[in-house]
Amino acid sequence: MRLVRTIAAVREELATPRDRQLRIGLVPTMGAFHEGHLALIRASVADCDVTVVSVFVNPTQFGANEDLARYPRDEDRDLRLAEAEGVDLVFAPSVEEVYPAGFDTAVDVGELATVLEGAIRPGHFRGVATVCTKLFHIAWPSAAYFGRKDAQQVAVIKTLVGDLDLPLEIRVIPTVRDADGLALSSRNAYLSAHERRRALALPRALQSGLDACRAGGGADGALGAARAMLGATEGISVDYVAVADLDGPTLAAAIRVGSTRLIDNVLLEEEAR
Ligand code: PAF
Repeated sequence: MRLVRTIAAVREELATPRDRQLRIGLVPTMGAFHEGHLALIRASVADCDVTVVSVFVNPTQFGANEDLARYPRDEDRDLRLAEAEGVDLVFAPSVEEVYPAGFDTAVDVGELATVLEGAIRPGHFRGVATVCTKLFHIAWPSAAYFGRKDAQQVAVIKTLVGDLDLPLEIRVIPTVRDADGLALSSRNAYLSAHERRRALALPRALQSGLDACRAGGGADGALGAARAMLGATEGISVDYVAVADLDGPTLAAAIRVGSTRLIDNVLLEEEAR
């Protein structure tokens, strides 16, 4: 496995595989790997001849009062895990490499980027769309791998890839959960044991929404059941609970437990149509 820190080095490393028309998979990450990241990496390694993983905590997708400074970082561990999974190339650039002095361009995906997460975190999806567009142009992968856990991010990325006619597939990998149902997230590391117990209301509320939907209640039933359960849980605050088309009909919610913000979603599939 090779580790590179510059755009020029990524292009150099990928020139031969591209000439040989090998299939290149890109897994964009912000590091602090957990099983969710490893599921993306495994999918790319299984599907592609060459897997590139980017590790970059992208400052432009964090708001002024968000957790950029305390976001977990452990490059040595990430590199060991990537190598063990068969990754070929890790791109871990500096902020200056991605956003050199004078950088002044942004990719805006429009209305989809302004609702739900976008309403609570203005500018978040502009940062995500801009860095992903750059990563796609740097690596020119055949496919890029994203987790379903960030369903709105998936919808934003698919919209930008379609609208800008970028020649790559977006592969969406199911959410990985701990045994207690909590979706894996780098931010789970912030939770105390007590907060973690409270945070379980999020997957439980989504599951009760899914059950209500399957029992014939449709999207309204799903929304009502999830709202009722979250509303009745003490010690959390609810940013939103909503049903939206996020790469399919989706029941999505965001909560805060102490100073930690968590998001999760379930696909309602046919039941909601
Ligand atoms: O999902 C993430 O980790 C980030 O939003 C991404 C896609 C790597 C862009 O910085």
